[in-house]
Order: sequence, then structure tokens, then C-alpha cells
Amino acid sequence: MQRGNRPSLGERVARPLAIAVLCATALCLTALARPASAQVFTPLGDPLKGERLFETKGCIRCHRVDGRGGTVGPNLSRLGQQRDLLQLAGLFWNHSPGMSARMQELGITRPVLSGSEMADIMAFLYALNYFDEPGDPVRGARLFREKQCVSCHGSGGPLGGIGPSVERLGDYGSPLLMIQAMWNHGPDMQERMKALEIRPPVFEGSDMADLLAYLRREGKREGLAVPSLVPGDPREGWKLFTVKGCIRCHAVQGEGGKVGPDLSQRRLPQTPSGLAGLLWNHGTRMREIMERLDVPPPTFTGSEVSDLVAYLYFIGFFGPPADAARGRGFFTAKGCVRCHSVNGKGGTVGPDLARSQAVLSPVEAARLMWNHAPLMEARMHELGITWPTLEGNEMADLLAYLASIPGSRSTPR
Ligand code: HEC
Ligand code: HEC
Ligand code: HEC
Ligand code: HEC
Repeated sequence: MQRGNRPSLGERVARPLAIAVLCATALCLTALARPASAQVFTPLGDPLKGERLFETKGCIRCHRVDGRGGTVGPNLSRLGQQRDLLQLAGLFWNHSPGMSARMQELGITRPVLSGSEMADIMAFLYALNYFDEPGDPVRGARLFREKQCVSCHGSGGPLGGIGPSVERLGDYGSPLLMIQAMWNHGPDMQERMKALEIRPPVFEGSDMADLLAYLRREGKREGLAVPSLVPGDPREGWKLFTVKGCIRCHAVQGEGGKVGPDLSQRRLPQTPSGLAGLLWNHGTRMREIMERLDVPPPTFTGSEVSDLVAYLYFIGFFGPPADAARGRGFFTAKGCVRCHSVNGKGGTVGPDLARSQAVLSPVEAARLMWNHAPLMEARMHELGITWPTLEGNEMADLLAYLASIPGSRSTPR
């Protein structure tokens, strides 16, 4: 997905491997999400449904996304950048009083959300940030020289002709496909690089997108339709993550091998090319370890790299595992305890939260907090309590605490 022509999410996902399927990842991922102290599951949500809800629930009347919508509230296009589901839900909660006030002024009914609607809208805001900026061919040309691709792929290079020509490389429609081809030719290219004492290239940030923009310009492919293999299907990606043996070395949310890092604990790049570049960089080291462990190195065909990379992107939607012990502290520090009790201890202005549906899942809690916000706000006003804001992972921690309370609805009694 490229930024240039700004398709709406709906248009973007109408492509063959639609983001629509991101939702289905919920099936395979719920079991992996946030296994904090208690079983706190996070359904993924369907970004396509989220896009529709953004309109039908009236958010679009006040908020712009991707160049459409009102300007009463802030533009939300970039809000999902580097923010997971509950961080987004936290911001939504923080601004509840401000939003309610504006809705009243404008005569808009405050929308009530179901749990899945909350998840869908947040998944929509998250998915909006999965795209590559259009590559810069000028920078790409420089990279082609600096990374020594020119030595083997450029006609004027010293070894011009060893690898396919620049024009042929311009056939690649997306950085993901190019990485896929490079990955599969990796061992061969690596051998030759070693022989020629060329350091294997490492790709960061927009490197791949820039390189490709250059190759497409040189190959006179600019403006031609890009084979649409982006954005990829993370549900397929998750399957590949298992089938191709990634899970033998990598855990996600604590489930899987320990040879490599738990990928849910890392700050992975957020763009298709950034993620694909990371995969490439990792190839050499991985092949070494796999040789030692006698695991055959994976190769990729068709849309497999796109799918895998889409999965890597959505790992971030669940955020890091939450910390119930910290959450316990927030329950007091944020003043929830003044109105809410847990198992009979605490305030009585609001319901006992151990008895509440809120403990069943973070999304359920986010939904209830949003839907009950107007009455909470009124009570806070009466009691002179300022609206508590939840930053960063505070909401996740708080909800993990609620779910961990012994004797609550989420724990067997
Ligand atoms: C009547 C206009 C209005 C409607 C409708 C509305 N909002 Fe808002 N929203 C605002 C305003 C104004 C703010 C900033 C409030 C403040 O300053 O506290 C805001 C803030 C936010 C924020 C925090 C943004 C940030 O940068 O931290 C989120 C998230 C949000 N809204 C999501 C939504 C969603 C999702 C919907 C639909 C369910 C929605 N809003 C409906 C007016 C609106
Ligand atoms: C040491 C020489 C060498 C260098 C340096 C090199 N390549 Fe290659 N590359 C090759 C060879 C040889 C092949 C064909 C390998 C094969 O057929 O198995 C190849 C294949 C490829 C392919 C797959 C082509 C296809 O469609 O089959 C891509 C894409 C590619 N290289 C991109 C790059 C990029 C981008 C760089 C710079 C970052 C680079 N290469 C640097 C030698 C090199
Ligand atoms: C044989 C073990 C092994 C296998 C199999 C493996 N990896 Fe890795 N991976 C590692 C190790 C070890 C690291 C640590 C970084 C390094 O040394 O490259 C790593 C690092 C990574 C990183 C970078 C993490 C970071 O924060 O920089 C990503 C992404 C990754 N692997 C993805 C994958 C994917 C996707 C697969 C399956 C196609 C896979 N890995 C298969 C061992 C493995
Ligand atoms: C000023 C008192 C007050 C404070 C402070 C307060 N709440 Fe509430 N809360 C209420 C009231 C009253 C309700 C019931 C509102 C209703 O019925 O619409 C409620 C409802 C809820 C619900 C829905 C429960 C259910 O099952 O329906 C949740 C979840 C919740 N609050 C969480 C929190 C959290 C987390 C905090 C701290 C960040 C907090 N509240 C702070 C008064 C408060």
C-alpha cells in the first residue's frame, strides 16, 4: 500500500489479499494474546467493519481519517501508529468528557459500542498505519551504489551481468516481492558476495521502498499497475509462522521457542518494507542457526512474504503483556477505588468490579468504561474528582489487575 494516491481503507482492502482477513486472525491469535496473570484475551477486531462503524457511529462527523471527515476533533489517521488496542482505547477514554461536551453542543447522540465494535474501530485505526510511503528513486539510486547491488546488477558495474539486470529487477511491484526473491536467492548471492568480499546488505526503514522506486524508474515501470500482493493476509502469515518453522525459535506472547527473541516483546518496524527488510537482515544469522539445528531454511513463494509480514505487523496490536501488579497500584492511584470496590473492598458509588463483565476481557472492559463514562463523569463532578487519564499501558495493566482478582467472574471459584 502506498501513500501516494490515498485509497480509502475499503479500496485498499478490496485488493486480492484484503486486510479484511486481518479479522480472522482473531481466531488464531486470541489464544496467544496477553496471557497475563489471568487469562486476559484480546479479540483482534475487523478493520473493515471498523471503517464502516467509524461512519455509522458518527465518529467521521468530527474526525478526519485519510483525508475524509470532520474537523471538530483531532485527525485520527496517525493515531494507531505505534499504539496497540488498549493504548488506543485509553486515549478514547481520556477524551470521553471532551467528546461528550462537543456531541451535546452539536446535538449528536453519544455512540454506544458493543465489545466487538470497540475492537473493530481500534483495529481500523491500527490498520490505517500499515503502508509504505512512496519510495524516493533518488535515494534509491544512491543505495543501489552504496549497498553494492550495482557491482553485480548494474550493466556498467565491474561484474555487471552476474545477476539479473536493473531493468528486470524493476519488474518487482512491491518491496515484499523483491525481498522474497532475494531471500530465495539468498544463499547463492551470499556465496558470491563472500567470494567478492562484499558485505551482505542490511536494509532499514524505507531502504527497500526507495530501492524499488529507483529500479522501477530505471526499468520504465513507473506508473504501471503494481501487482497487488500487498497488504497480505496475516491469518495466512500466522500459519506460515508455524509451518515455516519460525515458531520453533520465536515465541509470540510467550508461546513458542526460545532460541530467538519473543517477537511480541520487540519493537518491530511498522511498514511493509521495514518488516521485510528486517526479515532479510535476519536471513544470514537464521540460516547459520538452522544449519546447526538441522532445520531446513524456509523459502517463500507467491504471497508468502506479504502474509508473513502482515502477521508480524499485527503482532503489535496486542501490545506487550500487561502487568497486573502495576494495575493494582493504578486502581488506587487513578481513584477508581473511591467509587468501585473489588470483592467488597472499596467505594460503593459504582458497581463492584469483580462482579462486572469488565473482567472478562480487556475489550469488554474498554466497552463498559466508554458506555458508562457519562454517569461516571457526572459522579466525578459531584465528588470533585478529576477525570482520570490512562497513558501508555496503564489501561492494559489496570484491566489485567481486574481480571486477576481471585473470585472475580474471570477466575474459577
Ligand atoms: C461531536 C464530535 C465528536 C464525535 C462524534 C466523536 N469525537 Fe472523538 N473527539 C472529539 C473531540 C473534540 C476530541 C478531543 C477531546 C478533548 O480534547 O478532550 C476527540 C478525541 C478523540 C480521541 C483521542 C484523540 C487523541 O489524539 O488523543 C479518540 C481516540 C477519539 N476521539 C475517537 C472517537 C471515535 C472512535 C468516535 C466514534 C465512536 C468519536 N471519537 C466520535 C470529538 C468527537
Ligand atoms: C555479489 C553479487 C551480487 C550483489 C552484490 C547483489 N546481488 Fe542480487 N543477485 C546476484 C545473483 C548472482 C543473483 C541470481 C541468483 C540466482 O539466480 O540464484 C541475484 C538475484 C537477485 C534478485 C532476484 C532476481 C530474480 O528475479 O531472480 C534480486 C531481487 C536481487 N538480486 C536484488 C539485489 C539487490 C537489491 C542488491 C543490493 C542490495 C543485490 N541484489 C546485490 C548477485 C548479487
Ligand atoms: C533457527 C532459529 C530461528 C528461526 C527458525 C527463525 N528465527 Fe528469527 N531470529 C532468530 C534469532 C537467534 C534472532 C536474533 C537476532 C539475530 O541474531 O538475527 C532472530 C531475529 C528475528 C527477527 C528480528 C527481531 C528483532 O527485534 O530484531 C525477526 C523479525 C525474526 N527473527 C523473524 C523470523 C521469522 C518470520 C522466521 C520464520 C520465517 C524466523 N524468524 C525464523 C532465530 C530464528
Ligand atoms: C466518581 C466515581 C467513579 C470513579 C472515580 C470511577 N468510576 Fe467507574 N463507574 C462509576 C459509576 C457510578 C458506574 C456505573 C455507571 C452506569 O451505570 O452507567 C461506573 C461504571 C464502571 C464500569 C462498568 C461496570 C459494569 O459492569 O457496568 C467500569 C468497567 C468502570 N466503571 C471502571 C472504572 C475504572 C477503571 C475507574 C478508574 C480509572 C473508574 N471506573 C472510576 C463511578 C466511578
